[in-house]
Amino acid sequence: MASVSIVGGGVIGLSIAYECRKRGFEVTVIESGVCGGQASGAAAGMLAPYSEITEDPDDFFKLCQRSLNLYPDWVEHIMQSSNESFEFSNCGSLYAIFHEADLLSLEAKKRWQSEYGIQSYLLSGDEAREKEPLLSDDVYAALWCPAESHIYAPGYVKALIQACRNAGVSIIEHAGEAELVDGEPHLVSTDKGLIKGDFIVLATGAWSQNWEKGLNCSLPVFPIRGQICAYDGPSLSHIVFTSQGYFVGKENGTLIAGASEDIAGFNTSVTEHGINRLESWSKKVLPDLREERPFHKWAGLRPASQDGFPIIGKVIEKPSILIASGHYRNGILLSPVTAEIIANEIEEMPQEIPIESFRPERFQFV
Ligand code: GLY
Repeated sequence: MASVSIVGGGVIGLSIAYECRKRGFEVTVIESGVCGGQASGAAAGMLAPYSEITEDPDDFFKLCQRSLNLYPDWVEHIMQSSNESFEFSNCGSLYAIFHEADLLSLEAKKRWQSEYGIQSYLLSGDEAREKEPLLSDDVYAALWCPAESHIYAPGYVKALIQACRNAGVSIIEHAGEAELVDGEPHLVSTDKGLIKGDFIVLATGAWSQNWEKGLNCSLPVFPIRGQICAYDGPSLSHIVFTSQGYFVGKENGTLIAGASEDIAGFNTSVTEHGINRLESWSKKVLPDLREERPFHKWAGLRPASQDGFPIIGKVIEKPSILIASGHYRNGILLSPVTAEIIANEIEEMPQEIPIESFRPERFQFV
């Protein structure tokens, strides 16, 4: 059986590993540090493409929708294979607005959602507060979207690692920075030695630009820091989105408020400015937080590509090498569909959705 070696042990790399192993490949995951140690473990875990995408639906929207639809079965498989459970809540979301002037954009959102068969309901402020009593009296209206959900990202990552191990994936952690070996499209050099693969998948998130030299092509992926904080309750029964941030209540009793978008290189520390901004917005949306202070603050690096779309598929000039990166704000959401696409690419199977917009060759070769 052919072998697949995946560089990067975040949700994307692990999901590809699990899917490829399920399809019968020999699979190795090579991780520079520990699996899930970067953006994957830091994520708020929202599976909410309808709220997060404001523009008209496009191929990216179809990608997100396919992944959301794959989620229930995917989660069941991961739980069974790992023998571990983790929170996967079908709570729905409320996109809250504070001004009558924002009603037009909410109506437009509802219109395109219904064109794509997604049920959503426009609620008055009072109706929104009936659903989510902690919402501020200043909420003017909200769009309720029952299909959106969230997952507890650290639990998901832990179960994915275990599911991979139980399925026979070899996971090599603390491998240092991996490099492609010049002229050898089936070899990766690491601190733990040379690793072979009939196929090599590069799934290194915000660090993907490092591959440009070895691939002799452009891979424009940049780290965008997301600062986030958690309160000890109160609990929410929906994800709450606003134009300035989101709130999600976890079954362990924490309420997560996120997230900044700032450029700080590979720095994952939080800043006073970033957290203060989250805190003051949290108080405006959920007045019960007025007297509360977050008990935990952290940051992760989202991998943003130059055009905002993920980069998924074979490198045209080196077809044994595949890229799966640039998932930006949607790594957790897009993990099942990315695994499906990469495994289909390797097996040369037809794709379920159009993927041309995501192919690596859309960026010019250097
Ligand atoms: N998807 C949420 C975030 O990136 O903050």
